[in-house]
Amino acid sequence: MAENDPEKKPEPKSEPGSKAAEKSADSAPPAKAPPTKGIRGWLLLLAVVVGAGLLIFASGKHLKNLGQVGEKLVEATKSAGSPTIGGRFTLTDMNGQTVTDKTYAGKYMLVYFGYTYCPDVCPTGLTEMSNTLDALGELADKIQPIFISVDPDRDTPEQLKEYTSYFHPRLIGLTGTHEQVAAAAKAYRVYYAKVASKDADADPDDYTFDHSAVTYLMDPKGVFVQHFSHGTSAENMAKRLREILNP
Ligand code: NI
Repeated sequence: MAENDPEKKPEPKSEPGSKAAEKSADSAPPAKAPPTKGIRGWLLLLAVVVGAGLLIFASGKHLKNLGQVGEKLVEATKSAGSPTIGGRFTLTDMNGQTVTDKTYAGKYMLVYFGYTYCPDVCPTGLTEMSNTLDALGELADKIQPIFISVDPDRDTPEQLKEYTSYFHPRLIGLTGTHEQVAAAAKAYRVYYAKVASKDADADPDDYTFDHSAVTYLMDPKGVFVQHFSHGTSAENMAKRLREILNP
């Protein structure tokens, strides 16, 4: 083995040029051959070169992937005004009727995803939405405000009917099966995730959701117009909506 000290274990036939020396050149160095350090040095250099090559290859690949991600982000940004947000959905309204995106065609839609047990974010967002509608006066008739639940287990049509009535008489609450809700959320690129209570003794029904808190404005054909981030005041939303609804 290359690690063995050649002086302690000399090869029996080690004359340079002999078959033994040639044969052992790639395994054990001959006693009087160039020192192991030389071979080790070359091996090390080879390893470094190969390693560097692999690193360059790997990082190049990585950079290429990053580039692709970047391109996708650019594409997503470019198409922000096209129907890549929103689309078809089939859900159940507060009266237990099956509805789709077509049900509200002809009106602008303000769409908000959340859940009725939300302690803070949804009530805030829905209050702003309601205040916006009130601020718009008759113009608000052109808008159908919609609250889509991501918590169909607790948000029955009855539950939604009561909840939405706290905010605005025209606010419609929609729910559905887990699959229907997931499909609608996916179409609107809404993120939501169930979060179990940290209290070990808590009721299994005592859970919350992390969720996107974005208000989407869709035009009468169901095409995405723009979104309003959480925290947008009713005043600012109403101002923008007046520009869009009453050009
Ligand atoms: Ni919420």
